[in-house]
This record gives sequence, C-alpha cells and structure tokens, in this order.
Amino acid sequence: MRAITIPEPGGPDALVWTEVPDPEPGPGEVVVDVAASAVNRADLLQRQGRYPPPPGAPAYPGLECSGVIGAVGPGVTGWRVGQEVCALLAGGGYAERVAVPAGQLLPVPAGVDLVDAAALPEVACTVWSNVARLARLGTGETLLVHGGGSGIGTFAVQFGVALGATVVVTARAAKHDRLRGLGAAHAIDYREQDFVEEIQRVTEGRGADVILDIIGASYLARNVAALADGGRLVVIGMQGGRKAELDLGALLAKRASVAATALRSRPLDDKADIVRGVREQVWPLVESGAVRPVVDRRLPLTEVARAHRLVESGDHLGKVLLTVG
Ligand SMILES: NC(=O)c1ccc[n+]([C@@H]2O[C@H](COP(=O)([O-])OP(=O)(O)OC[C@H]3O[C@@H](n4cnc5c(N)ncnc54)[C@H](OP(=O)(O)O)[C@@H]3O)[C@@H](O)[C@H]2O)c1
Repeated sequence: MRAITIPEPGGPDALVWTEVPDPEPGPGEVVVDVAASAVNRADLLQRQGRYPPPPGAPAYPGLECSGVIGAVGPGVTGWRVGQEVCALLAGGGYAERVAVPAGQLLPVPAGVDLVDAAALPEVACTVWSNVARLARLGTGETLLVHGGGSGIGTFAVQFGVALGATVVVTARAAKHDRLRGLGAAHAIDYREQDFVEEIQRVTEGRGADVILDIIGASYLARNVAALADGGRLVVIGMQGGRKAELDLGALLAKRASVAATALRSRPLDDKADIVRGVREQVWPLVESGAVRPVVDRRLPLTEVARAHRLVESGDHLGKVLLTVG
C-alpha cells in the first residue's frame, strides 16, 4: 500500500507519498481501507519531529480516518468485512490502509457521508471526554471555547449548545459569523478584545463555568480570572506554551479546578471507554442533526503538503479532510 511518510522532519514538503508494507490485523484489531483522513494540529508537530507517535502506534501521521473494514483479526466480535466505519487512531490515518484496535471503531453515523465521517472521531472523543465526562458541563451553564474556529472548536460549539449551555468563543473576527451560525451566543475577537472582560460582560460578572482551552501557559492566569465560582478549566493544547505560574489563591477563592489531558497517549481501554461514551452520547446528536461535521474542504491525500500549509495558516474553519483514491 501507499502512505505518507516523513523521511526527515521539516516543513510541509517533508511529507512523502510512498510504498510501504501492508498492515496486518493483530489480535483484537481490524484493518480499514481508508476513504479519508483529516489534518489535526498535532500532525504538524509530528511532521516537525516534535510529537513522535506513542510506542506501538503506526509510524505514519493521521489520528483519525473513515473507510471500509477490509480484514478482521482474531478475537474481534461485532465488526465484519465490508462495514463502513470511522476510527480514532494513534497514527497511520494518512495511508491507504490502517490497523485499528476494534475498541476505537465507530459506525458511520446515519445521515453522514463516508468521507465526512473522517472529520468526527478525534474531535468527538476529545470534546466529549473533556467537556462532558471530565468537566460535566450542565444545562444553563456557560462554556468558553478558545479557538472556536478550529476543528475542535467547531465541534465543541455545537456540542455545548446541544447540552443546553450558552457557548462563547474566541476566534479571529473573520470566523465570527460562521461560529454564530453553529450556535455560539457570543464571539470574542481575541486579537482586539480582552476575553476576560468580554466573558465577564456577557455573563454579567459570573464568568465561564467551563473553559476548553487550546492555548495553555500564556492564557492560564486570564483563564482562571475568567472562571465562575466552581468553574472548571480544561487545557487540551499548548499553542501558547507549557509553563506558567498558577495563583492557587485565585483558584481556591472560586472553588475552581484546572485539568489538562491528552487523548493520543491514553491506554487502549481508556480510549475504548471514550469511544463507547461517544457512540452512546454523541452519535445520537449527530444523527439528529444537532451536531454536524464541519468540513472546510476536501483535498486528495497526495496534496497533503497543501493541506498542512492551510492548517498552519489558520485560514480554515473546522476540518480539512484528506481523501484516498
Ligand atoms: N489534548 C488532546 O487530547 C487534544 C486532542 C485534539 C486536539 N488538541 C489540541 O486542540 C487544538 C485544536 O486542534 P485542531 O486540530 O482542531 O486545530 P486547528 O484546526 O489547527 O485550529 C487551531 C486554531 O487555533 C486558533 N488560535 C490560535 N491562536 C489563538 C488564540 N490566541 N486564541 C484563540 N484561538 C487561537 C486559530 O484560530 P483563529 O483563526 O481564530 O486564530 C486556529 O484556527 C490544538 O492545540 C491541538 O493540539 C488536543
């Protein structure tokens, strides 16, 4: 088969479409014939040599895919050859075929096209596990989503609204109308406005009950300032650095909490648990149309360098898909 390899870390042109060995399904795994994968921000870091795949993961980039099951390994029950699926991957989605632990498979939701289904696994698993399972966002609460226009953000906006929350986003101004169209009640231009002042203004001084943050260190103090009493800050990205001072006094006074999580490096049984939760609690929202895949565009996998340049520029909204064949 062919896959995107990274012979030497570097810029987008470091990604090379080449012949590689076919994957075999190990015990508990299936092999998926890939219809599409999607670009995640982490793939840009992997390309630069700054985010190596975890032990045992395929060497090629690609944290999610959709496609058709081509082979089923020993001990797999409930999945059969020919079934259309999408999957959460630890790597290897940028390829014609990929071996996946069966616990990381999801059926293609009714009403979603096979290619568009590749836009869902990584964002659904990340957002559900952090916003619902960990932070327990409730009806009537306020969710602040940093990077509302990202793949993660466009999903989080819709999911927060579906849970009955008021959703506020930060994003560059050019994306605000489309984010309001997805259900955001307020959009903050983080380049021109202070998000702490804005969140306090729109919540009449209460602050955000839950913040989903992709910026990390440079936002830590301001995120704590933006939290409501009992608020939960969940950091899932470090685009603004990894080390910062935390004022425990400010946290303590608000009875607030800070958590940070990563999906890719979790143990297999935890990933399977998250995928089960997504199937039970998120898939019905997708099938009802309350939450939809937000696809900026589809590009052939052979044009992956163009796709990485686009995501690096931040000019996209939602997911950039990579189609195979
Ligand atoms: N921990 C985990 O398990 C996990 C899983 C998946 C993703 N993530 C993280 O989640 C983040 C989003 O991933 P993705 O693939 O969806 O990314 P993406 O589509 O590439 O989007 C990144 C976005 O960040 C926004 N941004 C940059 N600086 C900002 C700032 N100061 N304030 C607000 N927004 C800002 C940009 O939006 P504008 O155009 O508005 O500037 C850009 O569109 C990444 O940091 C990724 O590493 C973490």
